[in-house]
Parts: sequence; C-alpha cells; structure tokens
Amino acid sequence: MTSLIITIDGPAASGKSTAARLLAEMLGASFLDTGAMYRAVTLAAMRATVNMRDEKQLLSVIEKYEFRFEAEQGQMAVYINGEDVTKQIRKPEVTANARYIASSAKMREKLVEMQRQFAAGEEKIVTEGRDQGTVAFPNADVKFYLTAEVDERARRRQAEVGGNLENIQKAIEQRDKSDEGRTVGPLRPAGDAIVIDTTDLTIEEVAEKLLCRIEEKLPKRNRK
Ligand code: C5P
Repeated sequence: MTSLIITIDGPAASGKSTAARLLAEMLGASFLDTGAMYRAVTLAAMRATVNMRDEKQLLSVIEKYEFRFEAEQGQMAVYINGEDVTKQIRKPEVTANARYIASSAKMREKLVEMQRQFAAGEEKIVTEGRDQGTVAFPNADVKFYLTAEVDERARRRQAEVGGNLENIQKAIEQRDKSDEGRTVGPLRPAGDAIVIDTTDLTIEEVAEKLLCRIEEKLPKRNRK
C-alpha cells in the first residue's frame, strides 16, 4: 500500500529528474523516472523495426518484450528482456523517436498502467514525467510542476551531455511543442500543482524548496 505519492511534472531539462532523485533520498522514498519507460518502449520498437506511426504495431512491442524497471541509487535501471539498456535509452535517436509512443493514446494507457503498478509496490514514491499529476496519479499527496527558461534548460542539457548549444535548444523547443500539443496526456500543470520556476535555482535549492512545500502541506505525523 502506497502511503505517500509526490508527482513532479515539467518540460525537458527543467530539473525534475535530479530534483526528484534528491527529494526521494530526503524522504526515504522510491523514485520513478517515467521518461525512462517511454524511452525503453521506444528503443524496443526501434529494435523491432516496427512502423512507429502504427499504433497496433507499437502495442505489439509491449506484448512481445519484457520490460523491467529498478529503482537504483542515482538512476533508474532499465532492462529489456533481461538486457540492461539504461545507457542506450539516453541516445539522441531514442529521444527523438519517443514522441511516437508519447502521442499514442493506447500506448499512454499501457504506460500509465505500468506506472501505477510500479507505485503500488512502493511505500512512498516520488514520480516524475509529463502527466503524473494530471493523469497517472490525480490523487497524489503533493503535485509539483517545474519550469525554467528554455535557454537555461539548453545550457543544463549541454553541461550534462555536451554538444552544440543552439542545436540542443532547438531540440528542446521541438520536444516542448510536441509534449504540450498532443491531445492525450499533454504537458500542463495539474490544477492543484505547485508551480516552481527553477531558472535561477541550483538543484539542491530546488529539492529544498520541494521539501519545504511538502512539509507545509503534509504535517510530519501524516507522512509516516
Ligand atoms: O523525461 P524524458 O526526457 O526522459 O522523457 C522522454 C520522452 O517521453 C519525452 O520527450 C516525453 O515526450 C515522453 N514522456 C511523456 N510522459 C511522461 C514522461 C515522458 O510523454 N510521463
């Protein structure tokens, strides 16, 4: 039985993954990176050479492959049919193709189901993505939505993975457009989400802020 669910949504490179990991550590909670789930299914679909625009073929990938997600320190480990693909799912071609999975209503349904299953096995969970507070966990205890100026997000991504700043910013802008524009599970803050602009904050400051807001909303005795 899950006693605490914290959701963190926001656009690419808004700081949600790192903040979610730090926060999970502070709370002694598990951490779920739902983007890694989209990436894993994308990689499996690429390997199966299915037509990315064909929902039926995409669904067959979920049936045929076994996906496993393990909350490890620092990062979520991802396995496809027992093979560790934690690094491969971060490749730019996987990032670019994830939009096909993300814009399919049936695939989103399956992934939300996987997310709820994962959470059901944890006592406390910090889960991050695009639709965690709006669709996956509408009754979460506390919901956050992190934003940051796009040029700052591009700088952060460049510091992480290297590459040309202008190209990185363009790719982020494209992903924002596709995440915000889709009809199913679009990127937007839940009505009851606490919105935090992280542009001028360090990651530690972000995590501290989240913890403060949780303490304000949920007195300690209610948090176990
Ligand atoms: O967060 P990350 O960049 O790893 O996510 C990869 C892609 O998966 C995103 O571009 C987004 O389109 C999609 N995604 C989503 N819903 C989520 C998490 C990720 O649509 N909850």
